[in-house]
Amino acid sequence: MSSENPNLRKYDDILEEDNHLPNWWLAILFGTIVFGFGYWIAYHTTDTFKSPPEEYQADVEALKKARAAANPTSEDALVALAANTESVTEGQKVYATTCASCHGPNGEGLVGPNLTDKFWIHGNTGTDILKAVNEGFPDKGMPAWGAVIGDTKARNVTAYVLSIRGKNLPGKEPQGNPVE
Ligand code: HEC
Repeated sequence: MSSENPNLRKYDDILEEDNHLPNWWLAILFGTIVFGFGYWIAYHTTDTFKSPPEEYQADVEALKKARAAANPTSEDALVALAANTESVTEGQKVYATTCASCHGPNGEGLVGPNLTDKFWIHGNTGTDILKAVNEGFPDKGMPAWGAVIGDTKARNVTAYVLSIRGKNLPGKEPQGNPVE
């Protein structure tokens, strides 16, 4: 029988076929090894391709930017503006001429509340602050600035206030409720 089939071998008295692995099978085996190695090099040792989490992060950032561009007064847009040095510097100039007389030169408070402590009467999000700037609190002694300084300056000064938020400068006593 073994003379008929050269691939028949006898191991422990058991006749077994010892066929070569088919080439298509070997091609898949080595193909995946080569592919896996290439994939590892491309995705994990170089910056050529982004990994799925990185791609996702990039998509999220792009979406945030697109939303911010579509709606410059949204929270995302204001927070992004507060990270933009140019806007914050412009906002600081507006602050110095328009707000410092009541909120102190550095936001530590004077007639108006301390804008750097964690106590807030009207909330401390970007949209809260923009609303405070635009509409003021006329019955409490803060004029509405929106119509006076215009949209761009109102957003920039909001970015500046966001940038000093949480600095905790010693100044006016706490007013309002603590906001983390
Ligand atoms: C004439 C004085 C005056 C000026 C000028 C002024 N504010 Fe105020 N501001 C106040 C007073 C007073 C309050 C407190 C209102 C209240 O008690 O409800 C206040 C409140 C605020 C609040 C809310 C604080 C909180 O605790 O919730 C923000 C934010 C704010 N001002 C930002 C600004 C900015 C930015 C400017 C400049 C564009 C500005 N203010 C100009 C007097 C002023």
